[in-house]
Amino acid sequence: MNVGVEVVDQRFEFPFQNEHFEKLRGLVFEHTGITLGNEKKQLTYSRYSKRLRALGITDFNDYIDIIRSGDESEIPMFVSAITTNFTSFFRENHHFEFLVEEVARLLKTKQSIRIWSAGCSSGEEPYSMAMSLLHAIPGVETADVRILATDLDTEILAKAARGVYTDERFDGADKQIISPWIKRGRGDNTGLVLMHPAVRKMITYRQLNLLGPWPMKSPFDIIFCRNVVIYFSKDVQKTLFNRFSANQQKGAKLMIGHSENLAGVCDSYRLIGRTIYEKM
Ligand SMILES: C[S@@+](CC[C@H](N)C(=O)[O-])C[C@H]1O[C@@H](n2cnc3c(N)ncnc32)[C@H](O)[C@@H]1O
Repeated sequence: MNVGVEVVDQRFEFPFQNEHFEKLRGLVFEHTGITLGNEKKQLTYSRYSKRLRALGITDFNDYIDIIRSGDESEIPMFVSAITTNFTSFFRENHHFEFLVEEVARLLKTKQSIRIWSAGCSSGEEPYSMAMSLLHAIPGVETADVRILATDLDTEILAKAARGVYTDERFDGADKQIISPWIKRGRGDNTGLVLMHPAVRKMITYRQLNLLGPWPMKSPFDIIFCRNVVIYFSKDVQKTLFNRFSANQQKGAKLMIGHSENLAGVCDSYRLIGRTIYEKM
């Protein structure tokens, strides 16, 4: 008889019940703004069971207590375990083509240009920005053109700041654009690629939760926030895009991911191209 005893799914190495899922998804929302639907129960288990194993604990309640206590070493792991960091060089390349045109246009009348890669993951997005600009705009390296690249996930950000990738990450990238700005490893480093100092110099990496305070002061001429808000509820998206709008002046540009749109989310922007918006 099973009276009073919850049936534990046999696929789960550690007992994982709905109450664990509910508590974990509440904490995930609190720390990241990411909304986990009911269909994400298995995924939640699989991501966090790795943390239980790493910490040598067997009870999800203990793990939940660690997160609730605000444990400084575990919170970054908690966040990193659930975020989806998929990215690639020159992903949705039309945005980088537009970026080059826009920066070239702005440089005719503006001294300093500020670009933000919000949710930059492992760095492919900001490095693609920098390489595109260096390739297309002579002298841009000495102009005041700066890219701020931020992400919530400290581990992925450390990878971005290292600027080391495997060769195959560049498969399909335009050789003319990338070749001057990457250094291929030799000997023990064969198969690895290091980003050129001129590319790295244009980018500042910072850990930042898009739902927390933003310490930046200057308004942004161009913001890329692509494939980040798909995990956020509509309300969180509304707050976020209105904050982006408050940090941009009229005519500034915003790029979002291919499956995202601002309809019913924020009316301060108008669509001017494929997932390219302009602040009104
Ligand atoms: C799928 S990646 C997108 C990377 C890149 N923008 C692209 O389009 O290729 C989503 C990134 O958003 C970050 N992210 C998720 N929630 C965030 C938040 N609340 N604040 C900042 N970054 C967040 C994740 O850590 C992840 O690196």
